Amino acid sequence: MLKRYRLSRPVPLTLVPKLKRPPATGLFIAFEGVEGAGKGTQISMAEAHLRSLGLDVLVTREPGGTVAGEQIRELLLDPATGKLDARAEALLFAASRAQTVASVIRPALAEGKVVICDRYVDSSLAYQGWARGLGEPDVLSLNVWATQGLFPDMVILLHLEPELGMARSEDEPRDRMEQEGQQFLAKVADAYLKIAEEHPERFVVVDANRDPAAVFDSVREALERAVHERDDHHPTS
Ligand SMILES: Nc1ncnc2c1ncn2[C@@H]1O[C@H](COP(=O)(O)OP(=O)(O)OP(=O)(O)O)[C@@H](O)[C@H]1O
Ligand SMILES: [Mg+2]
Repeated sequence: MLKRYRLSRPVPLTLVPKLKRPPATGLFIAFEGVEGAGKGTQISMAEAHLRSLGLDVLVTREPGGTVAGEQIRELLLDPATGKLDARAEALLFAASRAQTVASVIRPALAEGKVVICDRYVDSSLAYQGWARGLGEPDVLSLNVWATQGLFPDMVILLHLEPELGMARSEDEPRDRMEQEGQQFLAKVADAYLKIAEEHPERFVVVDANRDPAAVFDSVREALERAVHERDDHHPTS
């Protein structure tokens, strides 16, 4: 017979983020935005800039080079996968994220690194929660569980109308998510803004419809603020 008293009591979900966040001196920054918003471009510039300030930087994108994550990502983005049930899709993204968090992001933060992630939980809130219609609360709960409550110190949302983003990468082959129509992508862009408005404590919204150097002026300002806030909370001496 199952001895129920051996099972630990579930921790209320709302307490998880505070309890499980390690007392790290690292800094966790995520970049979000629709396809072609310039995440990759701005992340390279951010990495170079933070390194020039003498910081130890780790750039990752889910699946973060983990073997399991790569295979999950392949399944998710390969157009040959075809239509996936929205819940299956949300779970797979969360599975890949859980693996990256556990094996790449948390260890790097524990070493005090600045971790920059190309897309994170807010992608799932926008794509699966809003655009696929699963609802933000359920997708949030799933991701709080998957990441054990690890949220970025700062999310930089590169805001761009989706048709402009698609136009920027017109010649590149479309992955499974990018093959969704304009209407889907418009929902994603709207959702990002809505989530950003609801969470001003973690979001910085940057107008990405400018040349890369101009966009980076805003990104750099946000990054430096995040670094200073971290240093104020965790003085090294
Ligand atoms: N500010 C900008 N203005 C014009 N073109 C840009 C700008 N930033 C990036 N690009 C170009 O747009 C394309 C997409 O940029 P990038 O790959 O950085 O976007 P992304 O957000 O990472 O896209 P994806 O989600 O598809 O990976 C690239 O060809 C890049 O050179
Ligand atoms: Mg990219």
